[in-house]
Amino acid sequence: MTDSLDPAPYAELTDLFVEPEARRLGVASRLVKYVEGIARERGASHLVVLTGQNNTEAQAFYRSAGYEEYAVAMRKSLKVAETR
Ligand SMILES: CC(C)(COP(=O)(O)OP(=O)(O)OC[C@H]1O[C@@H](n2cnc3c(N)ncnc32)[C@H](O)[C@@H]1OP(=O)(O)O)[C@@H](O)C(=O)NCCC(=O)NCCS
Repeated sequence: MTDSLDPAPYAELTDLFVEPEARRLGVASRLVKYVEGIARERGASHLVVLTGQNNTEAQAFYRSAGYEEYAVAMRKSLKVAETR
């Protein structure tokens, strides 16, 4: 569970991985339902998932599970020193 400025607590799920030979058997669907149940029990208003912009397979999976885009994630590398 992650606290934020939004007073309603929400849950986050990251790094869901199913072994390639076990895919399309409903494993991830069952895992996500299980996590949704735990999050709901703990008072989360939403379950937020994070996946790569180009990971169309994972996006298709999450859409099939009822998830929809609601934000744009942005980042900046801090490995190179600022030049200005
Ligand atoms: C995304 C992932 C977790 C899905 O796991 P899974 O156990 O195969 O998913 P399910 O069997 O529960 O799929 C349920 C439904 O989601 C959709 N779906 C799942 N994988 C899909 C794919 N590759 N392409 C299109 N739709 C897909 C389908 O509608 C599927 O139902 P169906 O098989 O009856 O058509 C799995 O492909 C995976 O581990 N990928 C690599 C890691 C990754 O990208 N993780 C997510 C981001 S962190």
